[in-house]
Order: sequence, then structure tokens, then C-alpha cells
Amino acid sequence: MTDHIQRHNDVLAPVIGFNTPLHIVEAEGIWVRDSEGNKWADFACGTAVTNLGHNHPNVVRAAKDQLDRLVHSGMIFHYDTSVEAAERLRSITPPSIEKFAFANSGAEAVEAAVKLAKYTTQRQGVLTFRGGFHGRTMGSVAYTTSKAKYRDGYHPVLGSVFVTPFPHPYRWGVSPDEAVERALDELHLIFKHVVSPSNIACFLVEPVQGEGGYYPAPPAFLSELRSLADEHGILLLYDEVQTGFGRTAEWFAADHFDAKPDIMAMGKGIANGLPLSSYGASREIIDGWPPGSHGTTYGGNPVAAAAAAAVIDTMGELLPGARELSKHAFERFEELAEKHPTIGDVRGLGLMIGVELVEDPESRAPDADAFKHVKAHGLENELIIISCGPDANIIRFIPALVTTREELDWAIDLVDEGLTSWESR
Ligand SMILES: Cc1ncc(COP(=O)(O)O)c(C=O)c1O
Repeated sequence: MTDHIQRHNDVLAPVIGFNTPLHIVEAEGIWVRDSEGNKWADFACGTAVTNLGHNHPNVVRAAKDQLDRLVHSGMIFHYDTSVEAAERLRSITPPSIEKFAFANSGAEAVEAAVKLAKYTTQRQGVLTFRGGFHGRTMGSVAYTTSKAKYRDGYHPVLGSVFVTPFPHPYRWGVSPDEAVERALDELHLIFKHVVSPSNIACFLVEPVQGEGGYYPAPPAFLSELRSLADEHGILLLYDEVQTGFGRTAEWFAADHFDAKPDIMAMGKGIANGLPLSSYGASREIIDGWPPGSHGTTYGGNPVAAAAAAAVIDTMGELLPGARELSKHAFERFEELAEKHPTIGDVRGLGLMIGVELVEDPESRAPDADAFKHVKAHGLENELIIISCGPDANIIRFIPALVTTREELDWAIDLVDEGLTSWESR
């Protein structure tokens, strides 16, 4: 154990788990470095946050400029950068999302967005989807069902939260159409037996399930949720905390679908690493939420908001390249899937790519050891990758938008090598 890890373990709570033992002192672009000058390419993007690469100069400059002028407001006085960030958000979110508020983390944005839905509809119920991840605070963990572990030890969690299946075609061994049909049948059974739609404030859904296994929603599923929401006065709330800010090679996952949300929660990539999150809705919805019904001391902090404005100013011109990178990555992983029986499925959207590793194609039994092997091979060769899914057997491949094609190919070659050595063990 290194000195640093010993000091860490002495004073820091083990509950906050780390994905690698690396001790990093500086970072730039896709590269992070330790104190001895060793470097690794961060294909985890600090868990889907540094979509522009670490320490992007535009973001660092905007934050430093703001640091020199004004660091904090705490709801006492007005300042420029939250308005500037919100104006830019309005220019990139779907037209249904017109006004915004800020918070500090994804979980906080989700909780606030749900509060807004409850307040607007004056209903108590929240309908969420099995496999979803929405955070770990006491409210948001009630919506999180990606792993039982996140809720174990905390029951009872919040009441009137109803969980229904999200379509998982590969895991269920069915086509996307069949998976949608099955998931919708279950949703209708909930409405018949458990709770009437008139009690539901919102559907809370990730357009691409993230932590739960990188499952893009089949478009028909979101369209049906949109129609059911319209029919029953339910609000459609997209959790775009992970899918936002270029992660799917568009500004938001919502851009890939016809079904648009009534409320949207955002976080992670919004300020490229400074702590910030946001949620937005139509004028009609947000203007009906009176001052003081919700609040925050730090949310929309001037420095983090300046960083968010810089992220939005910088990211637009990177999106076309991200689409090309995505196309190339999917082609490469699909080629690898032909060659490696350990790859059961390749799925995702844009640069949010899941490569599911299994013991064999017939049983589709999740193979977490295969993932551990590929991850270790990466780390030995300067590549950081992380997993997702309840069985930790899915490579969560999330390059920064600034990754070059050569860097992408190098990382995929390392996955290829790792799988070859795993399969010939
Ligand atoms: C979709 C989604 N929602 C919410 C969260 C919670 O965000 P945070 O960890 O910033 O609270 C996450 C984090 O991974 C997420 O992926």
C-alpha cells in the first residue's frame, strides 16, 4: 500500500469507493498524471463529467476570472454568471425546456425536479424504471434501482415511488420491440393494481439508462410514456445527468428522440468538473413554483456557473467530431464482438458505449471477472476504464469529446488485447 493510500484510509470514510488505486496530481485533456510522471488516459471522464477533457483551458480561464471577482452569492444578491449559464442552457435544451434553476449535484437536481413535478401536479406518486440510477441521497435513492446495494440498510425509503421495468432487450433475450411491449404491459398492470395514473406526478426516466447498464430507451418506449403522460396529466421528467452535454454526441439524449420532456435534470458534464447541476421546465411549470418553495445556498455558484457557460460556448463545435468518433467506435466494437465470444452485446448512444461481457453467448451469464481482467490490462498500459450494470460486467466506454481517432483506436486495441488474453487463459 502506498503512503498516500495509507493516509487516505486513516482519515477518509471507506464508504466512498474509488475505482482505481491511482494517486493523481495533475490532468490535461484525456491524460491524468501521478507525482512520478506516470500517465493514464481517462476513458472514464471522472465518471462521465470531463466531456471536454480535464482542465479545458476555456473552462479554467472562465472559472479563474470569476474567482478573482466574485465567488459566492448564496441567494443574497444577483450576479451575471447564473443568468449567462441559463441563457446558454436555453439555447441548447429542447424547446419544451425554457427556464432553469441550479443545484450542486445530480441527486439534488433530480430531487428538486421531482419536487417541482409534485408541486405542479399536487400529486404524490413518482413512477420510475427498474435499473435506473438517480442518485444516493435519501430522496433520490428511493428512485434508484440499478443495484439493491444502494438501498440496503436504508429502508424504508421514500413512499409512493412505483418501480416498473425499463426495456432490457439483451438481458431478457428478446427483440427491442418485444421488450417495449413487455415493459409497457407491466406499467399498465401497475396502473391497474397498484396506483391509478391520477396519483402520479411524474415519470422519472433516463433516456439512456447509465449506471444500470447503458441501455438506450427504444424510441417507441419514450413515445408511449409521452402519450400516457399527456393522457393522464403526468409530467415526463428526463434525468439527463449522465446523458447530457455531448455524452450522446448531441447536446442531450432528448435530441435523439421525438418524445420531449416536461422537466429535465442535468449535472455531471455541465461544468466539466466544477460542482454544478441544473433542472429546467417550461415557463408555465416553473413560474407556478413560488419563491421559497425550494432553495439552495451554493446552487448556481458564480464560479461553477461561469464554467458552465464556457462549457456550452466550447462544446458546440466538438459535436460533429463526436458523432464521427462514435460511428467509428461502434464499428470497431462490433468487429470485436465478431471476434470475441466474451462480448455479448454492444449498445449505447453517441459516446456513451456499453460493451457487455458474458461467460458465453448462449447463457449470456454476466462475466465480471472478464471485465476486471480487461480493466487491469488497461491500467497496466495507461488506460482507465470503468464498468456499469448491476453485475459490473459491462465496459462503460466513455471517451472525452476531444479524444483523437488514434487515441480511440489505441484504447479499443487495448480492450481487444485484454479480451484475447482473457479468452486464451
Ligand atoms: C442519471 C444520473 N442521475 C443522477 C446521478 C447522481 O448524480 P450525483 O452523483 O452528482 O449526485 C447520476 C450519477 O451517476 C446519474 O448517472
